Amino acid sequence: MSKLFSKLELNNITLNNRIVVSPMCQYSAEDGFATDWHLVHLGQFAIGRSAAVMQEATAVQAIGRISYWDLGIWKDEHIYKFQQITSFIKSQGSIPGIQLAHAGRKASDNRPWEGRGQFPADHANGWQTVAPSPIPFLDNQQHPLALTVREIETLVEDFKKAAERAVQAGYQIVEIHAAHGYLIHQFLSPLVNQRDDEYGGSFANRTRLLLEIVDAIKPVASNISLWVRISATDWAEHGWDLKQSIALAKILKEKGVEMIDVSTGGAVHHQKIPLSQGYQVPFSQEIKAQSRLKTTAVGIITSAKQAEEILQSEKSDLVLIGRAFLDDPHLTYHFADQLNYSLDWAPQYGRAKGTINNAKETEN
Ligand SMILES: Cc1cc2nc3c(=O)[nH]c(=O)nc-3n(C[C@H](O)[C@H](O)[C@H](O)COP(=O)(O)O)c2cc1C
Repeated sequence: MSKLFSKLELNNITLNNRIVVSPMCQYSAEDGFATDWHLVHLGQFAIGRSAAVMQEATAVQAIGRISYWDLGIWKDEHIYKFQQITSFIKSQGSIPGIQLAHAGRKASDNRPWEGRGQFPADHANGWQTVAPSPIPFLDNQQHPLALTVREIETLVEDFKKAAERAVQAGYQIVEIHAAHGYLIHQFLSPLVNQRDDEYGGSFANRTRLLLEIVDAIKPVASNISLWVRISATDWAEHGWDLKQSIALAKILKEKGVEMIDVSTGGAVHHQKIPLSQGYQVPFSQEIKAQSRLKTTAVGIITSAKQAEEILQSEKSDLVLIGRAFLDDPHLTYHFADQLNYSLDWAPQYGRAKGTINNAKETEN
């Protein structure tokens, strides 16, 4: 019995299998608005029968975009195009998810294909960044402004309003982006957060912002599945680590978060990441075992066999896949082939089932 192709019930949704498209920035929006690029890009994964499609980091404030070209959900006008996206994804039997984000000190960046690098605050496509403390990610970058307590209150409120809009737009999973060195992770990490007020110092203080956001979102998200993506380690001495991630996961479970999406890294430039196949899976496994919260595994998961093994051995409840989906939007079809699982293809594509890919395998 394939676990990869078994269903998973979450709050008011059923995932048809355990394969989810990981959120991936497209740097293709204008003023936060989604375009036809996003509709076709996200829609293709739903045609390809992934169980859920997580939309890229979508900013809750304009200054929370990683780049000028990121998606946003800071005003009601953004909702209309998102409704088209969610409606199409649902029409294909998949579940639309959205990642709510604020980039903090890593905002005001260029698009990767135009040469990464932060724009100064006075650049046409840049702005003044904010963070828990006035420390840049790189020495030659903007010095972010430390958020005041009043501004933190506004931020929490903006996450809540963004979640309300997300629900209105039809998303059935809302994921809070607390990973990869973006604003919430900047608060979590003792290497980045140097505050001496109630938002800095102790574990309770550093997790306060995230927990306030969860508390604010939970009531508006009662009919959908609430997820949190974390970086389970900073991969740097004295940083955020697995022990703190487990402690956080236990609290998140109590608060009604359904899934912890387990990534790593991104907080500090001097991190040392030992990249290899499935290198983040042990973090998911440990957090799942210790907190009893459902987890995702993500990061260099590239074959059906690898994904099946992760699930069979209870290392996660879902696998999230990023780049392999950009390479092959129909990866779920091909994973089914690899496991000899008979998956119903979109009927319009049915004549291709078992032809091209099997021919390829025969050649090999
Ligand atoms: C083009 C691109 C954009 C990404 N954007 C996001 C994002 O918006 N939010 C996020 O949490 N992770 C983002 N990621 C990370 C992926 O979600 C994923 O965690 C990572 O690529 C590792 O998975 P993979 O090895 O399957 O690609 C991005 C990755 C890529 C390649």
